[in-house]
Amino acid sequence: MFKKMPGEEPHRIVSTTPDTAVVFRPTVLKTPAIVTLVIFGWRAAASLVRTLWRHPVAVLVAAVPCVLSVLYGWRVALLLVTPVLVGTVVWGSLDRASFARWIGWRLLAWWRLIWVYRRHWQPVMVISGLGRHVRGRDYLPKLDKVTCTSWADLVTVRMLNGQAVKDWADRTDNLAQGFGGSSCRVSVLTGGRVRLTFPRSDPLAVPLPAVPIPETPTIGPVEIGKQEDGRPWFLKVHGTHVLVAGATGAGKGSIIWSTIRGLLPAVSTGLVEIWALDPKLMELSFGRDLFGPRYAADPADCADLLDDAVKVMQARAARFAGHRRSHVPTVDDPFVLVLVDEVAFLTAYQADKELRRRISAALATLTTQGRAVGVGVMATLQDPRKEVMNTRNLFPDKIALRLDESEQVDMVLGDGTRDRGALADRISPRPELGAGVGYVRLETSPDPIRVRAAYVSDEDIREMVAEFSGEVA
Ligand SMILES: Nc1ncnc2c1ncn2[C@@H]1O[C@H](COP(=O)(O)OP(=O)(O)OP(=O)(O)O)[C@@H](O)[C@H]1O
Ligand SMILES: [Mg+2]
Repeated sequence: MFKKMPGEEPHRIVSTTPDTAVVFRPTVLKTPAIVTLVIFGWRAAASLVRTLWRHPVAVLVAAVPCVLSVLYGWRVALLLVTPVLVGTVVWGSLDRASFARWIGWRLLAWWRLIWVYRRHWQPVMVISGLGRHVRGRDYLPKLDKVTCTSWADLVTVRMLNGQAVKDWADRTDNLAQGFGGSSCRVSVLTGGRVRLTFPRSDPLAVPLPAVPIPETPTIGPVEIGKQEDGRPWFLKVHGTHVLVAGATGAGKGSIIWSTIRGLLPAVSTGLVEIWALDPKLMELSFGRDLFGPRYAADPADCADLLDDAVKVMQARAARFAGHRRSHVPTVDDPFVLVLVDEVAFLTAYQADKELRRRISAALATLTTQGRAVGVGVMATLQDPRKEVMNTRNLFPDKIALRLDESEQVDMVLGDGTRDRGALADRISPRPELGAGVGYVRLETSPDPIRVRAAYVSDEDIREMVAEFSGEVA
């Protein structure tokens, strides 16, 4: 019945005397010294090969001068190393980008790995609750790899068995604080690994000038700004509907105007029509000549314009039925983009019940049936709560600019997005730092991407009107 227990005095465990201390000493198995030496040797060799493989540049920079001075003395080493150093400095000053790619970021990655991440890994993991220290043993997620880009450290981590991405997403604040970063974002990789992104600087901290008007007509994706990694930000408008949410002054106007700017050449060839609804009279009215007769500001006119868009859509659907399932823009059937600035003025805040009902019904019809027949809606909104915009889920693509409350982020971008690093409520309210900055989620990935829309100034809009207003039918 009782299993034989290891140790020297198991019989003492059961004691009838209350104050007798239970003494339990486990058997000590003596490992032969040679086995220990082989294990340590093997580990050292493996870590040397790994370091060589992962950080060849750093190893060369550190090892070559040492080897040369041991073999030939420090004077010869200095003589040989100096020209290489001078060459590197010249390379760095002549072609910064290639130097950074081949040498700079690799050296920095190695330095950040040993000085920041490896040094703080154990305490940060244990204190944040992502690792455990049990009976003298550490159970820690494995720090796999550190890569540096111009603006961030990308840290690849192998999770502990049984951990979920949510465990990491819930602790982004601890991780950022622990490794001295301003923020941390978590994205999923395959094979039980996650990538932590720690921004070192903010490439979107300065306003971007308006993107040049494309030379060839395009129906999108339209280049409207920049992503955090420096690549252009393209916004898809044809074949989708876009909802832009942001508090007052968040820069919704720059997304609207950058989109219009990118589509203007296609508008002038008749492949795109922009229908503008401007209930606040403050945004689209500035370039109303660009929209020809398809501009409305008064709520009743807006309702009529939306009803017309529904009629166009239904007529197309009737013609396309049984012939094609997706829309290719032509002069006869152009892509219709319905732009609505501050949609809540027409829906939630509209006092006239009948108008409100008509407008909400038209918007719901367009957003549920429009994309296959070439009718898209782009709407902006200050307050993304369901009471204000109950059809927000009918918009497949959403953009979260600066928001007032943290809960609003998930309302716009979907559950759990804020935990993964979409800190739209922390975007600076100072226009030069934060206007036009926001987060998007691409269809292909659950990870939010930080972006900034280019700023289309009043002068740019005047020039657009001067160049294109005569060409709108
Ligand atoms: N992309 C941008 N880059 C830099 N500054 C910007 C950008 N977009 C807007 N701004 C600045 O922020 C101010 C507010 O922008 P905008 O009017 O577009 O905000 P909004 O979100 O439309 O606000 P509201 O809801 O009050 O209409 C602008 O006057 C401009 O100075
Ligand atoms: Mg506005």
